[in-house]
Amino acid sequence: MGTIQLSCIQIAIGLLFLTQAKSTKEETSAHRNYTITSCISDERSALVTFRAGLSDTANRLSSWKGGDCCQWKGVHCSNITGRVIRLDLHGPDCHNSIVQVLGGNISSSLLGLQHLQYLDLSCNRFELQILEFLGSLYNLKYIDLSNSYFVGRVPPQLGNLSNLRYFSLDSTLGDTYSRDITWLSRLTSLQHLDMTFVNLSTIAHWLPVVNMLPFLKILRLGYCDLTSSPDSLQFSNLTSLEILDLLANDFLKRSTPNWFWGLTRLKYLDISASGLHGPFPDEIGNMTSMVRLDLSSNDLVGMVPTSMKNLCNLEELFLFENNINGCIAEFFQRLPSCSWNKLQTLDLAFTNLTGSLPTTSVPLSNLTILDLSCNKLTGPLPLWIGELTKLKSLYLGSNNLDGVIHEGHLSRLDMLDVLTLSDNSIAIVVSPAWVPAFNLKTLELRSCQLGPKFPMWLRWQRQLYSLDISNTSISDTLPDWFWVSTSSVLYINIRDNKIRGVLPSTMEFMRGIAMDFSSNQLTGPIPKLPTNLSNLDISRNNLVGPLPLDFGASGLQTLVLFDNCISGNIPSSLFKLQSLSLLDISGNNLTGSVPDCLDNESTINTTSLSIRNLSLRNNHLSGEFPSFLQSCNLLIFLDLSNNHFFGTLPTWIGQKLTSLAFLRLRSNMFYGHIPVELMKISNLQYLDLAYNNITGIIPTPIVNFKGMILMGDNDAGYEEAFGHGLAIGDNELVDYSENFTVLTKGQERLYTGEIIFMVNLDLSSNNLVGDIPEEIGSLVALKSLNLSWNAFSGKIPEKIGALVQVESLDLSHNKLSGRIPTSLSALTSLSRLNMSYNNLTGEVPSGNQLQTLEDPAYIYVGNPGLCGPLLLQKCPGQVEDPTYIPATQGDNEGVTDVTSFLLAMGSGLVAGLWVVFCIFLFKKKWRVSWLSLCDSMYDRISVLVAVTWASLTRKS
Ligand SMILES: *[C@@H]1O[C@H](CO)[C@@H](O)[C@H](O)[C@H]1NC(C)=O
Ligand SMILES: *[C@@H]1O[C@H](CO)[C@@H](O)[C@H](O)[C@H]1NC(C)=O
Ligand SMILES: *[C@@H]1O[C@H](CO)[C@@H](O)[C@H](O)[C@H]1NC(C)=O
Ligand SMILES: *[C@@H]1O[C@H](CO)[C@@H](O)[C@H](O)[C@H]1NC(C)=O
Repeated sequence: MGTIQLSCIQIAIGLLFLTQAKSTKEETSAHRNYTITSCISDERSALVTFRAGLSDTANRLSSWKGGDCCQWKGVHCSNITGRVIRLDLHGPDCHNSIVQVLGGNISSSLLGLQHLQYLDLSCNRFELQILEFLGSLYNLKYIDLSNSYFVGRVPPQLGNLSNLRYFSLDSTLGDTYSRDITWLSRLTSLQHLDMTFVNLSTIAHWLPVVNMLPFLKILRLGYCDLTSSPDSLQFSNLTSLEILDLLANDFLKRSTPNWFWGLTRLKYLDISASGLHGPFPDEIGNMTSMVRLDLSSNDLVGMVPTSMKNLCNLEELFLFENNINGCIAEFFQRLPSCSWNKLQTLDLAFTNLTGSLPTTSVPLSNLTILDLSCNKLTGPLPLWIGELTKLKSLYLGSNNLDGVIHEGHLSRLDMLDVLTLSDNSIAIVVSPAWVPAFNLKTLELRSCQLGPKFPMWLRWQRQLYSLDISNTSISDTLPDWFWVSTSSVLYINIRDNKIRGVLPSTMEFMRGIAMDFSSNQLTGPIPKLPTNLSNLDISRNNLVGPLPLDFGASGLQTLVLFDNCISGNIPSSLFKLQSLSLLDISGNNLTGSVPDCLDNESTINTTSLSIRNLSLRNNHLSGEFPSFLQSCNLLIFLDLSNNHFFGTLPTWIGQKLTSLAFLRLRSNMFYGHIPVELMKISNLQYLDLAYNNITGIIPTPIVNFKGMILMGDNDAGYEEAFGHGLAIGDNELVDYSENFTVLTKGQERLYTGEIIFMVNLDLSSNNLVGDIPEEIGSLVALKSLNLSWNAFSGKIPEKIGALVQVESLDLSHNKLSGRIPTSLSALTSLSRLNMSYNNLTGEVPSGNQLQTLEDPAYIYVGNPGLCGPLLLQKCPGQVEDPTYIPATQGDNEGVTDVTSFLLAMGSGLVAGLWVVFCIFLFKKKWRVSWLSLCDSMYDRISVLVAVTWASLTRKS
């Protein structure tokens, strides 16, 4: 068959040649015109073969038919020789590398185009090695392979292209590399070299090679993993260089000396995110041609040099993420006044700028982007900002600005399309009748003062894309026009206000992708949701009625509805949301049993849900353990607590829910044994079965809970499951944090978002019997162990002292007997202990942490056989030590404290006091651990931001 096909093609080609030859002949003879428009047949067949190797799903090369290949799209012939000299097949959309891309193979038939001067294959998706044979197309002057997913080694054969002037390899994926670039030095005609993202990490002496290219005007070596930047270049050939990109390399050296400061002709210099430290160099002042200077994301410190005054051509200045740590007024003074009317971009975010904005006008009449966000600026916004009439983007978020912004600041800014003032103490006070001249795309006013009335001027903002008016003291009814004005907004955030109103029945026609209405006073039912919606948070409102029978938004990923008054059953429509990953409908009035999505689905085997985090707690749900969970094998967090579920715990739990890490079933009516199969869930780090009617023993395979043995490295994965991370710019949408109360250390605590760090085993208030297995001592990551109010008997396991992380240990109200293991004193993290109401005997261990625990009498009460200094109850044979002062560090106050506790013992007072002490003690502790958590999260986030930021600013 292959041969038949081949011969058909040959015949077809042959026929084409004939017709073509004929027409060429006719043309030349008839018109005597030496301008040849038809293509050379050899070249045509080269192109045909080339095309046959390509994949072209969008049929971009549909014009590649007919005899005259010079008419084919992207093919250009010389109007003198008729030879193909240009091949321009760049994709239509470089930012979207799947739209209409070409792929497949690149045939060496291209070698037939020996006169080719220009080759542009950019913005496609080849995923091929860069072709060595290109090095034999000696006439090439221009090669653009950027953004086309070429991979592998850059072939040194390209060094043969001595006519090459333009060479771009910027490969977006970073999968190309070069271990040796001496071949580059032979491209002596080169004017434009772009190797962004080509990995050059093994090349130490790249600069001498580049310095062999005397005509170079543009050099882009960003993201190349370069590590060396010589101090100077003695004989610089790079006298023509105008544009130099060295961003995102690993120079890790002082800002000065560096060879590039000597390139005083440079117009564009990008040396951002390259690990430069030290001061902002004086040398900048010699680069008087500079138009665009980007030093962002380094560790440069101190005020910019006065020599900056010489930069009379400056249009764009990026210094964000450095540590200027000085007064903004002084900074403005050092901006070159000779370029005030040229400056378009000034990005100073995250630079530790202090003080107030200067009160006297800075006439930056061309300024379009001003970013001062995330600094320490104070004082009011001066009126002269309102004179920057070219301004398009104004970012002032996360400062300490205050004062009032009124129409005067804003009414002349008719080009403005981004305004961010979030996290300042700014009040925006405008007349209700004010109609702004601008039409914003992004408006972020989080935590500013907008209310109490709903801001009427928002009505006229019809092009918004992202809107954040969360926590802006609005206490008003949502006007009807709000839903009209925001019908095209993709990201809406109005959380933390006192906004009243109902969700409109037309909500399904809105274009929103993420909406956060949480913590308001919205009422009424939940309507059908916008088609494209993926994240919705309406928690902490007064929504009523049932969940919709048709949610509409089939791509919904996050649905957070906790703490409302939603009633009725859980509809099976919920299980049609195949992308749903986080569902929190806790704290509502839901009743009935959870439907089984498997019941009425014919496609039982293919039904699998994406849900990772499911909270149904605090409702009135009943029925058996929901069987639809069998199709939720990605589940990490499951909370059914405080409902009326009953029945036994299913044995399939161990096969189906293998990712489960957090299981909360407390306060239900589950009965039966703890299934051994549960122990197969090795990631489980949080198991709470308290307040049920569970019977039987603790199965010994409990040691399988790896999640309770090692603190996982899984935190990042869990964070995703907990819904963090949908932020559009500064607009943190659906900033969901798991929040529920946990009874630990004797008090009910509200936990918000900290659960991923908790390791907890709580089986309290059940009817468990038998020994506490010795194996429990293996669960060394446990922070809290509560086995109280059961009927455990036997001895306390000796290995209990191995639980070195444990902060809270409660074995009270059981039938435990024997001595308390002395190993207990090894529990240095312990801050709450309860052994009361057992049959323990012998001496209470002391030492270490045990010595510092408050109220020993309460800890051990109800064990008449216990004795020891901590209890002021002499053990038989114990020597009286009159100088021994129990329980405290030895001041008299301690004694009276303990005495008064003893006196109060038996009355409820003890418990009450205990709680007070605890709160005092642990609040501080929690604060500390919470802060360190914040720090580590901040680090992670800031790295992320830096990376994203860098990739966004790349090439802008
Ligand atoms: C050749 O033909 C083109 C149009 O086909 C015309 O513009 C051009 O002037 C002609 N040149 C000569 C030399 O006749
Ligand atoms: C040939 O093409 C060049 C540019 O490619 C153009 O400048 C020139 O005018 C063309 N000559 C003719 C005769 O069409
Ligand atoms: C400057 O470029 C020329 C031409 O490539 C080369 O011969 C010469 O060695 C270069 N000079 C230096 C100092 O590299
Ligand atoms: C700036 O250039 C002048 C003249 O070329 C030179 O004398 C001076 O040292 C340079 N300044 C810096 C800071 O490099």
